[in-house]
This record gives sequence, C-alpha cells and structure tokens, in this order.
Amino acid sequence: MLDLTPPRGSLDPIEIASRDEIAALQLKRLQKTLRHAYDNVPHYRNAFEAAGVHPDDCRTLADFAKFPFTAKADLRDQYPFGMFAVPRERLARIHASSGTTGKPTVVGYTKADIDMWAEVMARSIRAAGGRTGMTCHIAYGYGLFTGGLGAHYGAERLGCTVIPISGGMTERQVSLIEDFRPDIIMVTPSYCLAILDEFNKRGLDPRSTSLKVGIFGAEPWTNAMRLEIEAAFDMHAVDIYGLSEVIGPGVANECVETKDGLHIWEDHFYPEIIDPETGAVLPDGEKGELVFTSLTKEAMPIIRYRTRDLTRLLPGTARSMRRMEKVTGRSDDMMIIRGVNVFPTQIEEMLLSLDALSAHYQIVLTREGRMDEMEIKVEARPGAGDAANAAAKTLSKSIKDRIGVTAWVSVLPPEGIERSQGKARRIVDLRPKG
Ligand code: DLL
Repeated sequence: MLDLTPPRGSLDPIEIASRDEIAALQLKRLQKTLRHAYDNVPHYRNAFEAAGVHPDDCRTLADFAKFPFTAKADLRDQYPFGMFAVPRERLARIHASSGTTGKPTVVGYTKADIDMWAEVMARSIRAAGGRTGMTCHIAYGYGLFTGGLGAHYGAERLGCTVIPISGGMTERQVSLIEDFRPDIIMVTPSYCLAILDEFNKRGLDPRSTSLKVGIFGAEPWTNAMRLEIEAAFDMHAVDIYGLSEVIGPGVANECVETKDGLHIWEDHFYPEIIDPETGAVLPDGEKGELVFTSLTKEAMPIIRYRTRDLTRLLPGTARSMRRMEKVTGRSDDMMIIRGVNVFPTQIEEMLLSLDALSAHYQIVLTREGRMDEMEIKVEARPGAGDAANAAAKTLSKSIKDRIGVTAWVSVLPPEGIERSQGKARRIVDLRPKG
C-alpha cells in the first residue's frame, strides 16, 4: 500500500501544538461555550441552576466536572428546536437522527458551524491520507443523516473532486468506481462489504481498482475487519468517528501512518471518559463512557453529552491531540446473555479469524422460558463447502471458551444475511420486552 502520510507542513498548526497550548485554547473556548449555552438555552440555564453551578465557576478544566451531563433524553424532551441557542432564522441547516424509537433527535447548524464542520472533516480526510486533487466517492447516505453531507463538505474543502453517490444501488457503486477511478471511498464498513461482494459477483478484481484509502465509520468495526477490507481492496482502511449531537462525522479520525486509534480534534470537541454508573471522570487510559462538549458551536452548543460509546483516551502519537481507542461498542449494543456481557465486535473478531466464514453476520437473541439464547447467523464464504460447518463449530467453541456463553452458530449460504446500505443491524433482539 502507498505511503500516504501527509507532509508535516500541510497540517493545521494546532494539530501539532504543545499540550499546554491546546489546553489553554480549550479552557478559553469552554468558558465561552458555557456562557453561550447558559444565556441562550433555557434547558442549560435550568440544568446548571439545578446543579448549583454557573459558567463563572469554570476557572480551570478540572472545574468542568461540576457541570451537569446532557443525555439523549434531554434532546428528545426539547424536540424539535428547544436546544438551539440562536433564532431559527440563523440556522443554515438541520439534520436529524432516524430515531428508531420515538422522536428523532434534531440538530442545527449556523453558517459558521457548517464551516467548522467542513474544516474538521477536511482535516479528517487529510489524516486518512486524502489530498487536494484526489477523487472522493462518498457512499454515506445523503439526507437527514449527517454522513453524506458531512463528508461532502469536508472533501470539497480539502479540494477533492467529489462524487456524491450516497448509499444504495450497489451495482452502480461498482460501475462508478471502475469508471470514475476514485482515490478515496467514504462508506460504512458493512456497506463496503456489500460493494465488495458485487465486485466479486461481476468477476472484477477489487484489488485492481484505483482506490487508495477507505474512510470507514458510523458503526463499530474491528481491526480484524480492517485487515479483511485492506486485503480485499489493497487499500488503507482508516477509522472515522462522529455523532450528530456533537457535529456529525469528523469528531475524530485515525492517521493513516499509525492506525492506532482516532485523534480527537480537541480544539473543537472536548472529550472526557466517565464511569457510566457513577458519572465520575476517569483518568486517561481507563475505559468508560465517552462524553463530549463542543467548544466552538453556535447553533447547538452541547455540554457534557453522554455518547454511550465505550472507549478510553490515550496520549497523542502522530498528532499532539489525544486519541480515543477504536470504539468497540455502545452500551446500548451490549448484550447481557445469562449474566455475561457480550458485544457484537467480540463475535466479529472471532469469526473473521476463520477462513470459511464471511464477514456478513447477525446475532439473534431469543428467550426460552427465562433463559436467553444467542444465535449467530453467518454466511459461508463462497466455495467454502463443508469447511464452513466445521468453522461454525470452532466459532461456537471459542465463544464458549473465551466469552463464557453458549452460542448457536448457523451457517447460511452466501447472500443469506440482509445487506446494509448504511449502518448494519447486527443484533436482532426477539426477546419479550420488560
Ligand atoms: O454516524 C456520524 C458519522 C457518519 C460518523 C459517517 C462517521 C462516519 P449518528 O448517526 O449520530 O452519526 O451516530 C453516532 O454512531 O455514537 C457511535 O455509536 C457510532 N459510530 C460513529 N462512528 C463510529 C466509529 C454518525 N468509527 C453513533 N466506530 C456514535 C464505532 C461509531 N462507532
């Protein structure tokens, strides 16, 4: 694979500034954000008052731990526009989460917010190995989802030629990769696998495409999946993280030269890790729930937002900004099977170590009496034959040995699992509610 390390001189100076400089900038911006939220969003004024804090109480970064958290439920309660700190006329754009249950979560941006977002996205693409003049195929969904438009503005800002194809129509994705010869693809890792299948179906060699780097995010994926995709396409696979409530994609990104976790763009997003039970701030290096505060947003400042994503903070490497370890799961995706905590990514790592099984899988949860049952449905690799059944037995055994739960593994023929066009649905929970 090509060396795509960006020249040092092309980085934003703050990416490689001293920690003191970064911390000083964060404190200044944090104080301004707290004041802005308190003055303009009744929800924050009430929450601060209930917690007995005032923006003036934040004199150091350590003081910030006294401020209250914001949860997804707060955003829902303020539906649709109650979290906005500017009059509606100043909003340049609105996005919203799909909201599988209840009302969607609505987020808004001023022109300056869109501009900042484009900047952090351009920085993300550059960290991933993108450059001015490259062609960028964007297969994240366009629309209320932040993936497509977020990536689009960033790629334009970096000076790329953008192909805004969005998700879906997999045959056309392949044709346009063949014909337009993009250097970069931005897509969810699960949809990338569907595109890969289509290459194979047509007898085209995915390793001979023009693609040099894939920028994958919006859902958890493992290092085992990274190796799978890198080998299949002969390109770099780099992780991008973000969430709508904080801005969208481009909150943190891996550097192509190290691929050792995601550097958080700390000049715009202040990270903390907390103990999800007690809410106490944990030191860097300890695993817990990721919490973010925006430092420069106008339309919707977000204070100590509980992401439910589980990870830890690590010191900077390729940049001075701290890294977050690859997110292996959300607390919402944690399955408790007979008292044992299991994440889909644990299963993914194990099944990808078996050659006869493909990366297409789904976990089905049912309940027999009072006992939870876990079935893993996984597709055989084309041509695997009987080896797939043997691999299923091995998988079942390693899940028992390493995680301590019994799992039934069912091998399906190729195409047996529904394909995602965006975020994959890994867990199908058929257990009775309540
Ligand atoms: O998924 C924004 C995005 C678009 C990120 C494209 C990256 C690429 P939401 O729909 O609000 O926003 O979902 C945010 O997705 O809290 C995580 O649980 C999950 N997520 C996003 N990126 C990653 C990642 C977009 N790289 C939620 N690894 C987040 C693991 C991720 N999970």
